[in-house]
Amino acid sequence: MAIEIGQFKGGWDELVELLDLAFAAPWTETQLEAERRVWEADRSTVATDDGQLVGHTGTFSFRMTVPGAQVPVGGVTMVGVRPTHRRRGILRDLMRAQLTEIHEAGTEPLAALTASEAVIYGRFGYGLAADYQAIVVPKVSRALRSVAGIDDVRIRYVDVREALAGCAALRNRLAEERPGMFQHDDRWNEHIISDNVTSDPANGSKRRCVLAERDGELTGFAHYRTKRAEKGYVQVDRVHAVDIASHAALWRYLLEPDLLSETRSEIASDDPLLDLLLDPRAPSPITRDGLWVRTVDVGRALAARTYARDIDVVLDVTDGFLPWNVGKWQLSGGPDGATCEPTTREADLTVDVRELGAVYLGRPSLARLGRAGLVEEHTAGALAATSQAFSTSRLPFLDTGF
Ligand SMILES: CC(C)(COP(=O)(O)OP(=O)(O)OC[C@H]1O[C@@H](n2cnc3c(N)ncnc32)[C@H](O)[C@@H]1OP(=O)(O)O)[C@@H](O)C(=O)NCCC(=O)NCCS
Repeated sequence: MAIEIGQFKGGWDELVELLDLAFAAPWTETQLEAERRVWEADRSTVATDDGQLVGHTGTFSFRMTVPGAQVPVGGVTMVGVRPTHRRRGILRDLMRAQLTEIHEAGTEPLAALTASEAVIYGRFGYGLAADYQAIVVPKVSRALRSVAGIDDVRIRYVDVREALAGCAALRNRLAEERPGMFQHDDRWNEHIISDNVTSDPANGSKRRCVLAERDGELTGFAHYRTKRAEKGYVQVDRVHAVDIASHAALWRYLLEPDLLSETRSEIASDDPLLDLLLDPRAPSPITRDGLWVRTVDVGRALAARTYARDIDVVLDVTDGFLPWNVGKWQLSGGPDGATCEPTTREADLTVDVRELGAVYLGRPSLARLGRAGLVEEHTAGALAATSQAFSTSRLPFLDTGF
């Protein structure tokens, strides 16, 4: 019997049975419960073989910060194919069905995901739009350059749940300024603290929270755990602060753990901590792929963000997966907004949707991709100008894997 692709009609337990097999069962019961809470059952697309669930992809309804705006984005998640059914094109069919559905619904011009393996999604038109730095700072190398006002910031230990509402509001406010971040609603606020609320021998302590305060006002917070081991460490989940003194004060606290020897985290590639550590070699940063972005509808996606400088360019877009994006698009706009419509004008650049997804949030530069031979320039100067227009002052980053 042929594989059928359609809307999921089953329940969470059936889905978990599939994901448990597909991901080789890395999850605890607590983590699965956390996933269940954010799962959007009516946005699950599945493959079935004679009634048996053999593949799944889900979509979260995100509101994501992009340069100059916030837009609805389909967050692709829980992608898995039953091990007995792999390499028969099921993922490809699921991806096509999901992206077609997002396109037809017409509200989300983009899709985004965080990948378990970095080589999978480029073929479906996803570009690597945000990276991050995995850092490990030994306690002996914790010294920071001096930061004005750092001693005016008070660091206070609090219960993670009791402080949740205040921290969540601050995080969402700051998320509006950082491309790549999505807004956490109540379910996501709960989700980010719900796994490992209790101590777990594998992961260490329960999640802990410290606040940064100045004159009694909340100016930042950090979520972290501690793990006692031969080489004990602090695992920092997220640090958000409204100013550099608070940011540095939180890190000064996190880098000096009693009884433990190092601090680990995954931070934005432009996190000020990287510039403040006295020894720039101390964190041994490793660049990893973070957020992958897909322009589901080129016209609506490119019109949804703003541009660093005025731009009027014709892009000849290639897309081997979603035919409605193929063709010439005139992008006109600047810092206040943009339009992007089909055109018959001559093209200035030829670019694949994968590259458009990669540069959509401001990183990497289109010029850099051009140097790699991934963008073709037909009009002299068009690549440099378009590249500048797409650039942002802050690098994209996402503090929440999904
Ligand atoms: C990754 C996974 C979903 C792929 O499903 P699948 O049905 O076997 O994939 P398909 O047969 O549709 O493959 C489509 C293409 O992707 C490639 N591909 C699939 N999985 C790949 C992988 N892990 N690494 C590299 N390439 C991969 C295939 O070779 C094929 O390439 P082609 O277009 O050149 O023919 C499946 O192997 C799985 O469930 N893995 C474990 C869970 C996981 O990693 N999920 C992804 C979470 S982000």
